[in-house]
Amino acid sequence: MDLGIRGRTAIVCASSQGLGLACARALAEAGVSLVINGRNRAALDRSAEEIRRATGVHVTPVAADVSTVEGQEALLAACRTPDILINNNGGPPYRDFRELDRQALLSGVTMNMVTPIELIQRVIDSMAKRGFGRIVNITSSSVKMPLAGLDLSSGARAGLTAFVAGVARNFAGKNVTINGLLPGSFDTQRLRGIFAAASKKTGKPESEIAAQAAAEIPAKRFGTPAEFGQTCAFLCSVHASYITGQNILLDGGAYPGAF
Ligand SMILES: NC(=O)c1ccc[n+]([C@@H]2O[C@H](COP(=O)([O-])OP(=O)(O)OC[C@H]3O[C@@H](n4cnc5c(N)ncnc54)[C@H](OP(=O)(O)O)[C@@H]3O)[C@@H](O)[C@H]2O)c1
Repeated sequence: MDLGIRGRTAIVCASSQGLGLACARALAEAGVSLVINGRNRAALDRSAEEIRRATGVHVTPVAADVSTVEGQEALLAACRTPDILINNNGGPPYRDFRELDRQALLSGVTMNMVTPIELIQRVIDSMAKRGFGRIVNITSSSVKMPLAGLDLSSGARAGLTAFVAGVARNFAGKNVTINGLLPGSFDTQRLRGIFAAASKKTGKPESEIAAQAAAEIPAKRFGTPAEFGQTCAFLCSVHASYITGQNILLDGGAYPGAF
């Protein structure tokens, strides 16, 4: 399918690996020029080169912490008026909620709620003026199905989800959409890190923990970053202009509700 976005520009935050990188790749395959981002410059440059080679699109790597004002400024300096913004960031680590002091709480909320909102504030008016904009926030299935130990992640992302729900309706008439993608369990470094931590805690081999987790998913497997990226690219396409303010679960059927 031609997504109709060839020649558009996108900022994809936190995209040197994992789900962010998969979104960047899928947009590049659709002919979108990219700004990609991560803190580790070597890994980021490798991913930029890999996308350039595979697709021939223009890729600008911006090594920066997206949660900081300076990091956001660096991203926008590379592309002042993007047509597409993919908000992504690291997630707070597993922690008993009683261990979260004020600083940890504020930093989690900054990462997963304040940062995407600040970036949306910076780009949305120019999208509206041009009559095209696509914003996708990568959140988590924990927005709908919170997990003890990831309370800060669930709370901050639920806050973002509610915050942008009103904003999305205000911009729908300008062909600017804002949607959330809610990953369940995807085979990335982050998921492998969670299994490694569980293995350390329980003494069970990582492979056994992973197999048990996959067996509990109705699809009987983890999601692949590539399928996540393709869904993101579709939401950014011309065909998705009537989809806004939605939160789309990609979880292999793990969420048990009909709605
Ligand atoms: N994978 C899953 O199953 C799953 C499920 C639910 C939710 N999620 C959420 O989805 C998001 C992406 O997850 P993932 O699995 O793709 O993680 P990942 O494989 O660990 O990749 C994270 C990416 O974000 C970059 N990054 C992290 N912190 C950053 C920062 N402050 N500034 C700029 N870049 C930053 C990392 O590069 P650097 O480290 O070099 O900065 C890396 O490129 C996370 O918020 C995660 O919590 C994932």
